[in-house]
Amino acid sequence: MGATHAVVVGSGIAALTFALHAVQRGVEVTIVTKGCADQGSTRHAQGGIAGVVFPGDSIDDHVADTLTAGAGLCDPHAVSILVTEGPERIRELIDWGVAFDRDREGRLLAGLEAAHSQPRILHAGGDATGLAIESALLRAAREAGVRIVEHAFLKDLVVVKGRVLGVRVGHEGRTAVLAADAVVLATGGIGQVFERTTNPLVATGDGIAAALRAGAAVQDLEFVQFHPTVLATGTPFLVSEAVRGEGAVLLDDQGRHFAFDAHPDGELAPRDVVARACAAAGSVRLDATAIPDLATRFPSIDAAVRDRGLDWSATAVPVTPAAHYVMGGIVTDVDGRTTLPGLYAIGECARTGVHGANRLASNSLLEGAVFGARAAAAVSEAGRPRRGTLPTWDGPIAPAPPRDAHAPRDGARGAAEVFTRAALQRLMWTHAGLLRDGDGLAFAGETIAAWRAGSRDPVTVAEHEDANLLMVAEAVVAAAFARRDSAGAHWRTDAPLHTSRELATAGAL
Ligand code: SIN
Repeated sequence: MGATHAVVVGSGIAALTFALHAVQRGVEVTIVTKGCADQGSTRHAQGGIAGVVFPGDSIDDHVADTLTAGAGLCDPHAVSILVTEGPERIRELIDWGVAFDRDREGRLLAGLEAAHSQPRILHAGGDATGLAIESALLRAAREAGVRIVEHAFLKDLVVVKGRVLGVRVGHEGRTAVLAADAVVLATGGIGQVFERTTNPLVATGDGIAAALRAGAAVQDLEFVQFHPTVLATGTPFLVSEAVRGEGAVLLDDQGRHFAFDAHPDGELAPRDVVARACAAAGSVRLDATAIPDLATRFPSIDAAVRDRGLDWSATAVPVTPAAHYVMGGIVTDVDGRTTLPGLYAIGECARTGVHGANRLASNSLLEGAVFGARAAAAVSEAGRPRRGTLPTWDGPIAPAPPRDAHAPRDGARGAAEVFTRAALQRLMWTHAGLLRDGDGLAFAGETIAAWRAGSRDPVTVAEHEDANLLMVAEAVVAAAFARRDSAGAHWRTDAPLHTSRELATAGAL
């Protein structure tokens, strides 16, 4: 029997960590990615990667912070694995060439972000941590012989008798079928479902949609995190929580410092709390003028602010919440296994249970590294499925995708307006965004259902993405509708309190 072959869809930290670990274990890895390999969300991560690597910190403290931010809905076992295995993964990133920022004596610098009880965020290039990680991992993966196929769009999973046997991808104008012993989805988030997002254009939920079509379980899609501070001028650009960690404050249009009205931790309260406080305040500005040397500590943000004609060293700058991260996704165990044999999911598209209802800042890069490595071990240990246990598949003729894969037609009428991607994003922002209620969610659900009903087979990449966005949006709305109380990032104005954190914050406990 030859080597186990894994096909990985996506090329961020989870995919590349998987690949590097898998090749070390003798697994042949092919990465397929729909754009250029460095175009995903990882490269845009600013704040950094959280980990227990600094004196005075402890596994227990990082676990406790993660559980609290998650509003009581994390899986404690998965959180314990995340935090315990994190430091080893961080050391490995350093070995692979990630140059985290250090002081003059060569000691790693620790940043502070919201809801962390102490500074434990490693960063690189000031606020360009994701770029440093993506570049180093891509270099290491190429050197390790990982095959990377760019501009290859995931059309569907090949599923035969309940087992995933490969992927159908669109590449150079043709559909190719790649057979695999294991398919690993690492396709990132769904930010493009919303009108305002920090996510890159490629974040269209392709992996989650393909998993849904194949019949894999998804969960917790109602938990979409909105980042409180995104530049409100020009295209959305993230202003890292690390800026608030360094002392920046939020002001309303009267110049009032309002964050402590919402939570005793003010600007450094859990992200969902701060985002809702910003939404309630209306027009918000971030005052970072007291931070010395903004251009050195936050060079990318500094450039983006100045590109917009603003000087944040002198005046507060307008910011607004934007969709940032989906806590839910494809259900996995702590080794990346989904509910479908042969299919694994890692990184943002997976629902491991580590984030609960609201992810702790800078735990996402950590999740990609930790569960990418664990999934590689699981795939290698599973090896090649034994002959006779495999369902028959006479590839390369792929099974036709089910009707759900179809794209909306330009003229298809929803309950309110004609489908366009922008119309879907507006609908989701308005009715399934930071604040939701039953009526708005019902309207969104009906509109999306009408758009999907009037769909036709997708042909172009954009049409496939539209079909995926619609499918994921429908799943988000259904999950948000079904959860009738509020928890973490899922805030129902018609049922605003539920979890212990919200009750405690409201003084009810
Ligand atoms: C940020 O830098 O504020 C984002 C970090 C994260 O999403 O964890």
